[in-house]
Amino acid sequence: MNRAYRGAGASAGWTREDYIAGDRITENLLRADLLAKPRGSFMKWVVEPDGQVAGCVWLEPEKNRSWYLGSLATDPDRQNTGLGRTLLAAAERWIVSQGGTRVRLTVVDARETLIAWYVRRGYHLTGESEPFPDGDERFGRLLRHDLRFLFLEKNLAPGYDAP
Ligand SMILES: CC(C)(COP(=O)(O)OP(=O)(O)OC[C@H]1O[C@@H](n2cnc3c(N)ncnc32)[C@H](O)[C@@H]1OP(=O)(O)O)[C@@H](O)C(=O)NCCC(=O)NCCS
Repeated sequence: MNRAYRGAGASAGWTREDYIAGDRITENLLRADLLAKPRGSFMKWVVEPDGQVAGCVWLEPEKNRSWYLGSLATDPDRQNTGLGRTLLAAAERWIVSQGGTRVRLTVVDARETLIAWYVRRGYHLTGESEPFPDGDERFGRLLRHDLRFLFLEKNLAPGYDAP
């Protein structure tokens, strides 16, 4: 996750967050988050035969059979090969298998190419937004202070064709 979100130089991914300095996550923060949200699942995409983790995603049920999707990340060395699309589709199929009918996520408004990527995957902006939390440096130090989270969602109800 740190290399995918914040990697620099040759190891940077195409969507890196260049408006925040520092790591995206630490092992302690991740463990605390998992304990605080026991209904959520943090999933990894493992590549055989060596068992290397090539991607991850966080899935958590909300209300009305809607699920929150976050922390979708792929190893920058494997990006732009279709892995992100594969992982997102697998996450959607898993949500449907759990009875979910809608998936929601947030993206920082400055990340236009990432929003476009989700739109190409069938997501749409809902019009909702909320301020990006400022002053909480556990997830990095903000280099801009004008950011907002935009909400996107996708309907997974019957009739939806699993990719
Ligand atoms: C978002 C992310 C998971 C996508 O993973 P990926 O493995 O690169 O995804 P894919 O290979 O399936 O897709 C690559 C796409 O990006 C496009 N792309 C590649 N480089 C690009 C660039 N510089 N600008 C715009 N689009 C670009 C490709 O054309 C391709 O588009 P298409 O699938 O519509 O054809 C990955 O970039 C990532 O881990 N980002 C950092 C973490 C993050 O921000 N996650 C999102 C949280 S909401």
